[in-house]
Amino acid sequence: MKKGEFTFTMIKPKAVELGNLIPILYDISQAGFKVVAMKMTRLSLVQAKKFYAIHKERPFFKDLVEFMSSGPVVAAVLQKDNAVEEYRKLIGTTNPAEAEDGTIRKKYALSVQANAVHGSDSDENALIESNFFFSQFEIFA
Ligand code: CMP
Repeated sequence: MKKGEFTFTMIKPKAVELGNLIPILYDISQAGFKVVAMKMTRLSLVQAKKFYAIHKERPFFKDLVEFMSSGPVVAAVLQKDNAVEEYRKLIGTTNPAEAEDGTIRKKYALSVQANAVHGSDSDENALIESNFFFSQFEIFA
């Protein structure tokens, strides 16, 4: 994976439960991202804690990891020039109440916690998060 060309995303449990998986994937595709890895899986509590370890001191950590392990998620690695920044623009702000019209979170999020999708915040984290979910044989880049 060439730095700068990839980001990692997860469609969160509530968005999957509400049937928004395909509409979200369509928006991602329409925005010019290519899916180079994808799987539906359910995180255990231990795995969710590990994935979000960077937030472990935050007051919302317990709720966050319980929510993220409450049902299936869809994880994917996306390819596009300047992928991390471009994807963050497409999904909108963490709090959907502040997200711009047309963004994925504005369209599909219910709350800060159930904010439809996760997106990597840096190239370094895109690589770490992709490797958390996928082996080298599952990323077609
Ligand atoms: P995500 O992009 O998955 O990265 C960390 C997540 O923590 C974030 O989206 C939110 O869903 C969640 N989060 C961030 N801030 C808060 C908060 N103040 N209250 C509850 N959840 C939060």
